[in-house]
Amino acid sequence: MSVNSLKLDKLPALDRRVSIAPMMDRTDRHDRYFLRLISPSVLLYTEMITTGAILRGDRERFLKFDASEHPVALQLGGADAGDLAQCAEIAAEYGYDEVNLNVGCPSDRVQNARFGACLMKEPEVVAAGVKAMRQAVDLPVTVKSRIGVDDQDSWDDFVRFIETVAAKGCDTFIIHARKAWLHGLSPKENREIPPLSYDKVYRLKQRYPEFSITINGGVTACNEVSQHLAHVDGVMIGRAAYENPWLLADIEVSVFGGDRRTTRETVLDRYIGYIDREMTAGVPFYAMARHVLGLYQGVRGARAWRRHISENGPRPGAGGETLRQAVAKVLQLA
Ligand SMILES: Cc1cc2nc3c(=O)[nH]c(=O)nc-3n(C[C@H](O)[C@H](O)[C@H](O)COP(=O)(O)O)c2cc1C
Repeated sequence: MSVNSLKLDKLPALDRRVSIAPMMDRTDRHDRYFLRLISPSVLLYTEMITTGAILRGDRERFLKFDASEHPVALQLGGADAGDLAQCAEIAAEYGYDEVNLNVGCPSDRVQNARFGACLMKEPEVVAAGVKAMRQAVDLPVTVKSRIGVDDQDSWDDFVRFIETVAAKGCDTFIIHARKAWLHGLSPKENREIPPLSYDKVYRLKQRYPEFSITINGGVTACNEVSQHLAHVDGVMIGRAAYENPWLLADIEVSVFGGDRRTTRETVLDRYIGYIDREMTAGVPFYAMARHVLGLYQGVRGARAWRRHISENGPRPGAGGETLRQAVAKVLQLA
């Protein structure tokens, strides 16, 4: 057993049954604070932060988070082993619970910098990054990938990728269950057009029962979560958690056994308290308020709610009261 696996064995395992996907421009620290008010148990991921932004940018702005967000994982974008190791150390200093490497983003910007999904074609580079991060920190080091890219999408290609990366110490994989096309599709199309292939992810778990495997892609409801959990260790939810965050309240009950006493209005009350504090520190209201637009998804009055906030939220003078007025509109219609 290597020194690193000894170290890892001592850490309490994170509960990975349900996690919220890293999403650029969405899962910033405000959104994570808000989601945590709804679910105490889900594992949260940051947006992808590039190693360059951490090493040469405004680090504090990119990395700071509220203690209530735990458990929270930092997702890194990068390929250079030395940079990744340095960033993993910084993540540990900030108190993140996990470091995750993005091997799934197909955007041109990311491809030009030679990281993200195109790294599925270079498993040795991913493996070297994993090894360097594991040597640098005690934190779990995990990888989020696709099931393939371009014409490298066979079962054997997928297994070769996983085995190469696992050989350097990664035992936790989050798999977006569709391939990515590196040319010709936008990132949005790459989340919609290549078909989902859950079977490949289930098969991976069957082949490597010792690995922790989280499935991702297209999950929108509680019953789907439990269906997947019969086959894999975890389910990661992206768009549905943003568009319908109250889904997490149901998951808290059905997966984690929580009680149902929280209401949307209680959550909002507490989020408004947070917004007030952050506004005093100079954060614009709408940068935080925009994350609540989906809160009443599926409820009578949801449209009035969204309209009130999106029309009034960006105006000067908007604040907690704007959200209270929006709640009043929903309650009037209920
Ligand atoms: C707006 C947006 C931004 C995203 N940004 C990231 C990112 O920073 N890192 C990443 O690994 N995946 C990113 N993704 C992909 C999601 O993490 C997830 O893999 C994908 O949306 C599929 O899951 P879903 O069907 O539950 O949404 C993003 C997705 C969306 C919609």
